[in-house]
Amino acid sequence: MMQDMEAAPKPAKQLDHRYEGIAKVTGKAKYAAEFSEPFSRSDLAYAYIVQSTIPSGTVVSIERTAADRAPGVIAILTPFNAPKLNPGPPQPPARRNLSLLQDADVYYNGQPVAVVVARSLNEAKAGAAMLKFKYSPKAAQVSFMQNLGEARWPKNPGKEPAGNHRGDLQAAFSKSSAIVENTYITPIQHHNPMEPHATIAWWEGEKLNIYDATQYISGVRMSLAKTLNVPFDYVRVVNPVVGGGFGSKGSMWSHVPLCAIAAKVTGKPVKLVLEREQMFGPVGGRPSTVNKIKLGASADGKLLAMQQDVVMNASVMEDFVEHSEGPTKNLYTSEANSVTAKVVEVNLGVSTFMRAPGEAPGTAVLEIAMDELAEKLKMDPMQLRLVNYADKDPSHDRPWSSKHLRECYTQASERFGWSKRSATPGAKTEGNALIGYGMATATYPANRSAAQAVVRMLSGGRMFVGSGTQDLGTGTYTIMAQQAAAGLGIDPKLVEVKLGDSRLPKAPVSGGSQSSASVLPAIQDATTQLKLKLADLAISDAGSPLHGLRTLDIEAKDGKLTNKNNPSQTDSLTDLIARNGGKPVEATGSAEPSESRDAMTSNSWGAVFAEVAVDRDTHMVKVRRVVATYDIGTLLNDKTGLNQLMGGITWGVSFALHEEAHIDPVYGRVVNESLAEYHVPVNADIGRLDVTVLNIPDMKFNPIGSRGIGEIGITGAAAAIANAIYNATGKRIREYPITPDKIMTA
Ligand code: MOS
Repeated sequence: MMQDMEAAPKPAKQLDHRYEGIAKVTGKAKYAAEFSEPFSRSDLAYAYIVQSTIPSGTVVSIERTAADRAPGVIAILTPFNAPKLNPGPPQPPARRNLSLLQDADVYYNGQPVAVVVARSLNEAKAGAAMLKFKYSPKAAQVSFMQNLGEARWPKNPGKEPAGNHRGDLQAAFSKSSAIVENTYITPIQHHNPMEPHATIAWWEGEKLNIYDATQYISGVRMSLAKTLNVPFDYVRVVNPVVGGGFGSKGSMWSHVPLCAIAAKVTGKPVKLVLEREQMFGPVGGRPSTVNKIKLGASADGKLLAMQQDVVMNASVMEDFVEHSEGPTKNLYTSEANSVTAKVVEVNLGVSTFMRAPGEAPGTAVLEIAMDELAEKLKMDPMQLRLVNYADKDPSHDRPWSSKHLRECYTQASERFGWSKRSATPGAKTEGNALIGYGMATATYPANRSAAQAVVRMLSGGRMFVGSGTQDLGTGTYTIMAQQAAAGLGIDPKLVEVKLGDSRLPKAPVSGGSQSSASVLPAIQDATTQLKLKLADLAISDAGSPLHGLRTLDIEAKDGKLTNKNNPSQTDSLTDLIARNGGKPVEATGSAEPSESRDAMTSNSWGAVFAEVAVDRDTHMVKVRRVVATYDIGTLLNDKTGLNQLMGGITWGVSFALHEEAHIDPVYGRVVNESLAEYHVPVNADIGRLDVTVLNIPDMKFNPIGSRGIGEIGITGAAAAIANAIYNATGKRIREYPITPDKIMTA
């Protein structure tokens, strides 16, 4: 640990509030759907997507006379008149397989099959209601559970192979003295960011401008250019703030090019906002997973064999693999290990990344199995994790760049009071409530990609930093200001930040928890270049007290350039730029993962402890408190960072108790496609969240020492709650969400 600490730079001075916070709470921050410039607002037209009402078949005809004559209707795009595009194969993460009215085929119920454009949203919806579709239906398969036997290997498993085996599994099971073997199920879940997907498109001649609620402006730009056959340079995507994405805005979906062609066809700026109901299908979701897990251990708790075979639903349109077998591969050491992931094709929308894809359901299921194994071994569940602690990455047989999970277990268990737990279910009661304690391990890979940034020293001691990244509500603006300021030793309050515009230097998708880990090193590089330029400016400036010095003698701190050898010799950045005629000095920077990346594995870690109270009669579960400690490298901002971890845990509560999409078994539509019926937690559902981080820099991962923080919070939390419910009730529920009916009938 000390070695890690010594290499670490001084942490950047933090902003004490969210950079864009005041703009957001005063209504000045503009989300994609809220722009009314630079086009004329009265010119703006509204597009409404019409969705299929059958799960499989073809559109034979559309009776549209009434709709064409309806007040305000400007254009109707259907499979029979839409311009021919160049959809091409899906290219995750930039985009998934789309429905762009290029043919009349229907693959799922809810698929976009027409777009009505009108002067107002209400007129567009009224026009849409007048369209009469005639379908030729085909037999559809919408039930995944009834067709598990049809599971096949995925055609495109994503970044991980769909099968992985090491050691002699059967031999390891046969010498195990304790074995647990069960099936664990996670449901289909849908992203519900507060801000729905929204696009405004307008053309200036051949040039396309887009305001789009996205996690990936350069991905949308690239995908639109390809799909619409326009030069890349002709597309501009702007998106200064995002009201949550969680993966569903990580790829471009059909409504974006549909909005662009609606604008082209009508010659107007067009706004297309998905309704909440339209977000259950056309913009992805997390597939359901059925996980057969078998664990074998010796009497002293050493894992000998671990096996997980997962089957999930995939759309007939495109495979997406939710790697819920991931944690079984590398969370603990074991002599033998075998995992597989297979898919069953169904007539549902394409699945996609959803907060901590793989690790969220993966820890939710494996960490129940570990709790069951601990019970069988009569071992403390945390002790079982410690006995099987992976000091190196067992799936790749290589070191971790940094791992301090032991300290997470120690800190969180002490704050929680884990030693007071009784191993006997139902031992602790309060009035009519059964009280239970549970714990689980959290983990999520640390990712980073190539990124670029630009910085400028401005007059008045102020600075500018820009990068074509996104802020999903996570704190990107805030930490960009901090990093730029740290580079020149100025106050982060003096930094102006720009992001969310494809004209800025390129940055990766804000997915996989990688934005800060990718963009901050680029800003660091840019400020290093800027410092050199400013020093050279001072050196060549006869009016500077630093005139004639050598570049390497000059450092920047507290808003000044200083002679390292004679700290009383300084030139303030304000004076320097003033003598430069007020002209800003600019530098660009870039950063990418080092070549040594493949020699090690970088993950974040955490230990999560939960206390629940279960009513003996109603079987309602109240999560009273969650205590967690994470090892995420350097914590960049106390408020925005801990806020993300708390948000993740909140979603863990939701995963454990609330969320599930119900599919109509005949029609294949999500039945509960609204926030009234698709349950997400509200404040009253969340007890006390007590979150800390170790704040130990991971300098082998990147020069900031910081791993991503956006996704790990959801991992482990659901299992900690499930295990607490068992500790309270003695009922082992292996199917999420753990609703009162399941506890009652178990
Ligand atoms: Mo995240 S699910 O990679 O946006």
